[in-house]
Amino acid sequence: MNAVLRIRPMTADDLDWVCAAESVLHAFPWTRGNFCDSLEAGHACCVLERDGEPLGYAICLKIVDEAHLLNISVMRAVQGQGLGRWFLDVLGHGLWEHGARQMFLEVRPSNVAALRLYERAGFAPIGRRRDYYPAADGRREDAIVMRRELTSGA
Ligand SMILES: CC(C)(COP(=O)(O)OP(=O)(O)OC[C@H]1O[C@@H](n2cnc3c(N)ncnc32)[C@H](O)[C@@H]1OP(=O)(O)O)[C@@H](O)C(=O)NCCC(=O)NCCS
Repeated sequence: MNAVLRIRPMTADDLDWVCAAESVLHAFPWTRGNFCDSLEAGHACCVLERDGEPLGYAICLKIVDEAHLLNISVMRAVQGQGLGRWFLDVLGHGLWEHGARQMFLEVRPSNVAALRLYERAGFAPIGRRRDYYPAADGRREDAIVMRRELTSGA
């Protein structure tokens, strides 16, 4: 039988595994409070799962016709299999259906996997925020700001 990949809303019941995954996947992880705030604010908080097994999560903020991708994460054991791309494309389509026409995000220049994912998904750099992120040894790292148009097809 084919495995069923789907996206469902995140709930507060997901926060234990989401926070555990976040601390493994990110050098500067979101706190539980950050995820709670996103849920309470009504952001698009989504879980990617296959046959009921959570494989990733994403948080998007939608303001009128703009969507902002705040977090997208895929479990390490299943990275590099096209899941991040599928997740991002389906999220984009869902946001388009809810009226978003363009999507923005920030990414660390050092995050090669994320940069590659975003470029492949059609995002293009539109600017840079100096010293936006915390980095190792108390230093800071710039953010590359990227944007893509959303269409009915993605
Ligand atoms: C970024 C992330 C979501 C990508 O998810 P993924 O499921 O591994 O991505 P995909 O398999 O769909 O790959 C998408 C593209 O990125 C490329 N890619 C993925 N991982 C890569 C890596 N480590 N190095 C270089 N390229 C990589 C893939 O080859 C693919 O490009 P291609 O079509 O040219 O082959 C995942 O690596 C992750 O969760 N990282 C930790 C959390 C994070 O940094 N999130 C982003 C910031 S919030």
